[in-house]
Amino acid sequence: MYRAIRIPPEKGEEIREKAVAGKFLDTTRKIRKVQNEKGTFLEIPVTEAAGETVGGFPVIEQEYLEFLKPPLSLKECLKGSLSETELAHVPSGWHVLGDIIIISIPYVLDEKKYLIAKTLLSIYPKCRSVVRDFGIEGQLRQPKRELLLGSGTETVHKEHGCFFKQDVTKVMYSKGNLEERKRMSRLGRREVVVDMFAGIGYFSIPMAVHARPEKIISIEINPESFAYLKENIRLNHVEDIITPVLGDSTQAAPEGEADRVIMGYVGTTHHYLEAAIKTLKKNGGILHYHETVPESLAKTRPEERIKNAVESLGKKVEVMEIRRIKKYSPGVLHVVVDARIFA
Ligand SMILES: C[S@@+](CC[C@H](N)C(=O)[O-])C[C@H]1O[C@@H](n2cnc3c(N)ncnc32)[C@H](O)[C@@H]1O
Repeated sequence: MYRAIRIPPEKGEEIREKAVAGKFLDTTRKIRKVQNEKGTFLEIPVTEAAGETVGGFPVIEQEYLEFLKPPLSLKECLKGSLSETELAHVPSGWHVLGDIIIISIPYVLDEKKYLIAKTLLSIYPKCRSVVRDFGIEGQLRQPKRELLLGSGTETVHKEHGCFFKQDVTKVMYSKGNLEERKRMSRLGRREVVVDMFAGIGYFSIPMAVHARPEKIISIEINPESFAYLKENIRLNHVEDIITPVLGDSTQAAPEGEADRVIMGYVGTTHHYLEAAIKTLKKNGGILHYHETVPESLAKTRPEERIKNAVESLGKKVEVMEIRRIKKYSPGVLHVVVDARIFA
């Protein structure tokens, strides 16, 4: 339990000095200003050694905590509130997107989920919500998530000079793809690019902001993601570069127009290879083909799938690079293949 003395502001210095002299000032937390219907107060953080009252003011349990330095871990903050067995299940990782914390909490900690959320917010005083993650589902990549604490699930995540507005309970955002988003931001200058699985603009936005291609056609099938894609085009001032298209890329992608096609989707991406190759200009262009693949097949299967599609269309291919993006699940990698297609 974290303790504090709540006092009127004019008593601040006197009580702080008492706490220093009595060696019970908690120097890991900040002195907080609190405003409620009774007025404005200061909360002086103290340790257990403060006892029940200080200078006539009761020692209370502090509801919202602000640490001077982030504590070492969530587990450490929860010591004393959770049993040893429960502590063993406390996650050691989570994501911060904009001002929202996203965390996957095991079912054994169901009853502690609000305490975990409250503790996380105290570690990140600039965040305003905590959302529990249950994974991503289906072709439209819709996340299953529950708001645990806070005031909303829409946020603007800033990354690499770009803004990504999103509702974290409606659309996905893979932190693990950061390097690939940065790489895409260096490609496409003076080209026509088709992004077949645009989402909220994961690859289209950094490419448009930094490389400024002649044109990017960004296709997205999920209306909720599409709404954010349009919003992000506006937020990043790239309306002159990106044309958003709501639809299925197998039907909505133009034929014979692109210098480069981005296929940032995993699971069944190979089903879209022929459509992607047809989208490239007649004399060819470059594909960025994503696939999730068992580690042992990573050097062969994606390449073979591209070759099969290319041959069935009477074209040629040179595989330029196979890059590992991240570990997708145990024994499975998310890779991207850069392939040059020729007539
Ligand atoms: C996995 S997300 C993109 C993730 C991204 N690579 C990242 O960095 O996080 C892929 C998007 O493709 C969309 N999608 C799936 N099938 C589609 C199709 N046939 N045509 C257009 N969009 C599609 C999904 O709705 C989803 O928003």
